[in-house]
Amino acid sequence: MNILEEIKKEHDQYRDLLEELADTDRRHTNERKEKFEELRREVKAHHEAEEHTLFERLQKEEEAKFEVLESIEEHHVLEDLLKKIEDTAEDDETWGPKLQVLKEILEHHMDEEEDEVFEKSKDLLSDDELESLREDFESKKSEEKDKM
Ligand SMILES: [Fe+2]
Ligand SMILES: [Fe+2]
Repeated sequence: MNILEEIKKEHDQYRDLLEELADTDRRHTNERKEKFEELRREVKAHHEAEEHTLFERLQKEEEAKFEVLESIEEHHVLEDLLKKIEDTAEDDETWGPKLQVLKEILEHHMDEEEDEVFEKSKDLLSDDELESLREDFESKKSEEKDKM
């Protein structure tokens, strides 16, 4: 498995969690709390791992720089939103709408990575490099989760 396959696999897990969270209502406070906490930790570690492995490597390539910087800007927007939802009570009437905004932005972000960033990666990096980046990605991600 290479880094792109690993990233895609994780994106699909976040898509599922977002769907499950979007299906909750104000009575499901425990489910919201548990699933959102899982999503928040995973996505945060995923972003750090992307930035310190694939993106760091791609930024050396002039042709990929714009897409990578755009993705990093989106990570910042997403971090703010995750923090905002974390600070909102699960039975607050704005929790659901906030989650909906997160879902739309995160889904757009993941689609764009799988489209534009993956295409640049396949064009510019070798198969061997994509394989070894996956190992770096996994160790960076578990290191981040240990810090939380
Ligand atoms: Fe990302
Ligand atoms: Fe991603």
